[in-house]
Amino acid sequence: MENNQEVLLRVDHLCQYFKMGPNAVTKAVDDVSFDIKKGEVFGLVGESGCGKTTTGRSIIKLYDITSGSVYFKGVRIAAGTQSYKDAIKKAQDELKEKSKTASPEEAAKLKAETDAFIAEQRKQIKLAQYDQKNCDKAYAAQQVKKVEEKYAPLLSAATGDEKEKLTKEYRDELRKAKNTRLVTQIQMIFQDPIASLDPRMTVREIISEGLVIQGERDKKVIDEKVYEMLELVGLVREHASRYPHEFSGGQRQRIGVARSIIMNPELIIADEPVSALDVSVQAQVINLLNELREKFGLTLLFIAHDLSVVKYFSDRIGVMYYGKMVELADSDELFLNPMHPYTRSLLSAIPLPDPIYEKQRKRIVYNPLAEHDYSQDPPTFRELKPGHFVQCNEAEYRKYMEQLK
Ligand SMILES: Nc1ncnc2c1ncn2[C@@H]1O[C@H](COP(=O)(O)OP(=O)(O)OP(=O)(O)O)[C@@H](O)[C@H]1O
Ligand SMILES: [Mg+2]
Repeated sequence: MENNQEVLLRVDHLCQYFKMGPNAVTKAVDDVSFDIKKGEVFGLVGESGCGKTTTGRSIIKLYDITSGSVYFKGVRIAAGTQSYKDAIKKAQDELKEKSKTASPEEAAKLKAETDAFIAEQRKQIKLAQYDQKNCDKAYAAQQVKKVEEKYAPLLSAATGDEKEKLTKEYRDELRKAKNTRLVTQIQMIFQDPIASLDPRMTVREIISEGLVIQGERDKKVIDEKVYEMLELVGLVREHASRYPHEFSGGQRQRIGVARSIIMNPELIIADEPVSALDVSVQAQVINLLNELREKFGLTLLFIAHDLSVVKYFSDRIGVMYYGKMVELADSDELFLNPMHPYTRSLLSAIPLPDPIYEKQRKRIVYNPLAEHDYSQDPPTFRELKPGHFVQCNEAEYRKYMEQLK
């Protein structure tokens, strides 16, 4: 990890709920917060269905998130409103309840306070809606301004053929700038290398799709870029005219990597990029990601369902369970001092190449009902020591602190 501590991505109280009928919701991601620093590899682990993919998809704005915010390079790129709406409803209910027993003066005072509170929440809702919709527009406008500033002096100094050439270049750049999206600097490598590549598109079309959407029209430029990407990920240029079904799983994942890298992203979300692959091929794809990361200074959110894959690769690791982040720490710290029982159970599942250890290794099964009593005191996400967070209540917090001593 670079020494640079600049935060590239900040996920702040993210909630993504899915309505499953009139009265049922799935809280796929429920109040999850973490940040990723520039140049870092952040591992996100947890069992199937705990909300890892949904977290990734929320970050790249495939959903209108329910609540919370996502900041990229300090700009809020996604914002939900449900928490504000809930706060308004709660304030209104409380006012109704309290007014029943209050004197007229008290009631008037309470109402004024509640009105002010609600006005503030409404303001936050408007701000969230604005950011959700406009962050890309604002970014594109910034890029357009940059292009204009670059070409204005050049154009006024040029004459004749030179001027004509520059004008064409200027228009091309301007069109691309208008189409830039902040979110294209975050690219996702999808979980399923088969389903995520359109079978009717050639590899060339798949890899260059993002460039084309961004306004690139020069076929030569596109071809060159595609070849460069293919070679970068260990394929050859002849592969460009083939279709996805002609490739093996590992090769398809390389195509997915090429498709994400071509956009020159700063952050890549790799969603279980190797779980569908053979163990030997897994290592190849991980090595490829590592090389690319060093070469381009990429930042990586690496999603996996078990800890063994992320162990050597991640600077920090977040552990999710049923939509919640239950533990977050530096990789070394997490392996040395796992605190949450779910993290311990994940660790107990990792085999080691040591026959004596393996004979004694017992898998710890995590049973939340037996493990925690949250009936009186519900858990929150607390910092046990700098950078090491655990979801726990007061009693557990004291117990963990004791264990850490
Ligand atoms: N579009 C959707 N509509 C409704 N429910 C969804 C949707 N997407 C995900 N879910 C539900 O949200 C929960 C989290 O799903 P998610 O795909 O994020 O899990 P995951 O951690 O990526 O699992 P896996 O390791 O199997 O990929 C699951 O219960 C899933 O059924
Ligand atoms: Mg998933």
